[in-house]
Amino acid sequence: MRLLSTSPIVVLTGAGISRESGLHTFRDADGIWAQVRLEDVATPEGYARDPARVQAFYNARRHGLNDPGVVPNAAHFALANLERLWPADVLVVTQNIDDLHERAGQQRLIHMHGELLKAFCTQCRVVERCTSDLSVTDACPNCGAVGTLRPDVVWFGEMPYQMERIYEALAACDLFVSIGTSGNVYPAAGFVAEARANGAHTVELNLEPSEGATLFAESVLGPATEVVPGFVNELLALL
Ligand code: APR
Repeated sequence: MRLLSTSPIVVLTGAGISRESGLHTFRDADGIWAQVRLEDVATPEGYARDPARVQAFYNARRHGLNDPGVVPNAAHFALANLERLWPADVLVVTQNIDDLHERAGQQRLIHMHGELLKAFCTQCRVVERCTSDLSVTDACPNCGAVGTLRPDVVWFGEMPYQMERIYEALAACDLFVSIGTSGNVYPAAGFVAEARANGAHTVELNLEPSEGATLFAESVLGPATEVVPGFVNELLALL
């Protein structure tokens, strides 16, 4: 697949791209799902059963993200650089709910699983920025309902955000790059097949082969802070 300077690029990122910024992944040995059951904190049923527990789980992750030591790493900056310098569209679709891509300067970005620093009211559906703790006694600043504010995070069994826009971009791209994701969770794990079906070149940049590794035309294994800048430099050398 020859890439031209008019070639649109779609990049999918997962928790692995933020690992070297100090945020845990989900399925590594020291991952989040080794500490707590996803059924209890990342499903609508878990929230209905014990909303205070779910709020506490996301409050702790928000504290982690607000830690001054947690900053974008070289992989985040390399993708922002690619968007700035590549003459055609570069769209980053992230499964992550942290704001490290934004803080690295990424503009064209979709948080398909939502954002830790946002909350929405289940009564009036208004979405608000949320940088501090949420509790079941909070009142919605918009409609005044109490106990209806939840993290604006897509839980298992819920529909990820902006799927139509994502599939349009996958159908139009010449290059699909998957970074730091285990390929365990759909629909994101199916994006590589969508991109291949439209004839795109597909590349996996990951610490180890993902579940979908065999679907990629090319794979570069290593830590994101090494393999992502290296790959971006190779792309920019084509210009
Ligand atoms: N550099 C690159 N890749 C890394 C690094 C690193 N430093 N550290 C870990 N990885 C890789 C792991 O090898 C693994 O393949 O990142 C991947 C992380 O996989 P998961 O923990 O499953 O995270 P992710 O794929 O983002 O999970 C997808 O599952 O639980 C849900 O909603 C949650 O968005 C999440 C989704």
